[in-house]
Amino acid sequence: MIIKISKEKKGVKIIFVQKDSRSKKISFLSKGIGNISEIKEYLKLYNFEANKNQSILFNINKKKYLVFSIEKNYSLDTLRKSASKIFKELKKNKEKEAHLIIPNEKEEEIIAIIEGANLSDYKFDKYISKKEKDINLNITLDISKNFEKTIKDTITICNNVKETRDLVNENANLITPIYLEKISKKLAKDKKLKIKVLNEKNLKKENLGLIEAVSKGSPKTPARLIIVEYKGDPKSKEKIALVGKGLTFDTGGLNLKPTNYIEDMKIDMAGAATVYGIFKSAVELKLKKNLFLVIPSTENAISESSYKPGDVIKSYSGKTVEITNTDAEGRLILADALSYIQKKEKPTLIIDFATLTGASMVALGMETAAVFGNDNNTYKKLKKISKENGEKIWKMPIFKDHENVLKSNIADTLNAAIGKGRFGGASSAAAFLKGFIEKDVKWLHFDIAGPAYSSSENSYIPINGTGRYVRLIVEYLKNN
Ligand code: BES
Ligand code: MN
Ligand code: MN
Repeated sequence: MIIKISKEKKGVKIIFVQKDSRSKKISFLSKGIGNISEIKEYLKLYNFEANKNQSILFNINKKKYLVFSIEKNYSLDTLRKSASKIFKELKKNKEKEAHLIIPNEKEEEIIAIIEGANLSDYKFDKYISKKEKDINLNITLDISKNFEKTIKDTITICNNVKETRDLVNENANLITPIYLEKISKKLAKDKKLKIKVLNEKNLKKENLGLIEAVSKGSPKTPARLIIVEYKGDPKSKEKIALVGKGLTFDTGGLNLKPTNYIEDMKIDMAGAATVYGIFKSAVELKLKKNLFLVIPSTENAISESSYKPGDVIKSYSGKTVEITNTDAEGRLILADALSYIQKKEKPTLIIDFATLTGASMVALGMETAAVFGNDNNTYKKLKKISKENGEKIWKMPIFKDHENVLKSNIADTLNAAIGKGRFGGASSAAAFLKGFIEKDVKWLHFDIAGPAYSSSENSYIPINGTGRYVRLIVEYLKNN
């Protein structure tokens, strides 16, 4: 799909209408259409009642019209979903050209329309032998040229959301720690950024014991800690670390996951894919921010060398961890990455993303990220953006009891609670991470086990990898 500003009016004319709930009269939101009375006659003829989200495609004298009815006081996300519906309708009808008469020239509405259409134009069909033939749809908008940069930036972000989806959807035998290293190196090279990658030898030498322990089950797929730096605001002391769980396949380790739980575990690097998408967007948009992309990456596999339940392991921070469950591996690799980046780069704010716990899905379902941490100020700003952008978040607590359930009698902490302590698993996982956050460092942790993945297509969210939260954080970085 190509979206551009143009006065050309080829193909289907897309018109937004609205119905007055009392008089039932249809009004045209799109201005300057011309033959309104004729269009109204056709709408009547086809019994088009302009109910919420209703659309109709018809011809008048060989000219095609798509009329879409949008609710009164629509939100930006309604607009996004409407654009998705319109895009899919045009695709279904194999249309090649369309021009959209937008209701107004509000920047945020133009962005929402482009996002809704563009994010719907996605399919992971690489492995399908008989692909549906893709028709490239050209959509023109007759609006001020001033919006050219807005459109370009929006498309850049959407492309990165799709790259995040691709990374999540791709095979675990391809997306290994080495692969994540490769794409990070390419990005660093293209954009002239500083990059540091710790390989298995460096990890051992520098005592990142937790990452090393998890990676022990996959000697042929060694671990990496990837750190890329972007200095968009050299004068500022503010530094944000974006940390993502890059667990490229989670078998559960010796606490092996059973059938019905193991199948989707290639998605366990969705946190890494999310921060990669955010970071790349920020670099491409040249945002005035100092950022670190931090990806601890390994498999959690089974072999005779796998780490074992009962092992006590020394972390990079010096804290010792008693392993009660090898399937609680994400928090381990994150903990070492968090300690390492704090020691080496002293970030002022850390935001981490991880498909960390099934418990977060039990609590909030499949569409909402559970957010934890000490930075309520940043959380509030994100919440405000979230309400309009459709990527849902909900603040969750870390109470003293969530920390207490991690007490060990042979080490400084357990990696996962046992017995009745297992309840509230999203909070105790966050409590474990909290134990590796230094005093006065602002921190937010996103548990995205649910919303990183979707079991069905729903408007502009495709089936499988969703790319959620790339837009949310980029929007935050843009405006704060
Ligand atoms: N990667 C999983 C969490 C997960 C589950 C992500 C389902 C996406 C979908 C994580 O490593 C895990 O196994 N967590 C365990 C923790 C438990 C052993 C304390 C869980 O949630 O069951
Ligand atoms: Mn696990
Ligand atoms: Mn995992």
